[in-house]
Amino acid sequence: MLKVAIFASGRGSNALKIIEHSASKTTFEVALIVSNKSEAPILLEAHAAGIPTLILEKERFYKTTEYSRLLKARGIDAIVLAGFLWLIPIHLIQSFEGKIINIHPSLLPKYGGKGMYGSHIHEAVSRAKERRTGITIHYVNEEYDKGKIILQACTQIDEHDTPAIIAQKVLRLEHYYFPRAVEGLAYHLAQL
Ligand code: GRF
Repeated sequence: MLKVAIFASGRGSNALKIIEHSASKTTFEVALIVSNKSEAPILLEAHAAGIPTLILEKERFYKTTEYSRLLKARGIDAIVLAGFLWLIPIHLIQSFEGKIINIHPSLLPKYGGKGMYGSHIHEAVSRAKERRTGITIHYVNEEYDKGKIILQACTQIDEHDTPAIIAQKVLRLEHYYFPRAVEGLAYHLAQL
């Protein structure tokens, strides 16, 4: 069974959906929840589910290879970024080549890159009067939102949709597709 570490710093709703989904699967287990924020709500959920947690320190994350070694030592096979805003350092990308995926709440390459996260994206989409938006699940490389795309799904935007409504529509897509994409990754890695 694939051992997955989820990196999350925000609300953690995607991480939670992945944890819930893993309960009924034999392809992967969420073996670790990693955050750069000690107050992230997902840490409480992880404790309740009996999943170990790890809080990252910025200096050690960027200036040492300690965390790569630690994740390997814990038997982690793949990393899932679910609302994790720090750029992933090259040593981690090299240690988990082809085994780190991220979700982004827009149809990349549109509305991606540094500074494009959370409500900024949905506000920009709304200002541009887009008629559709969606999600992108992709492999992670050393640039924000530039890795190879695995899956995209889209939703219609109605004329009077506010950025908040657009955000809800996109989140619904994320909650459906992301757990299934992790399962797909587990299946894919098991074939290698
Ligand atoms: C999601 O919209 C995801 O696409 C982005 O960060 C957000 C995280 O939301 N990368 P949550 O913390 O999982 O609720």
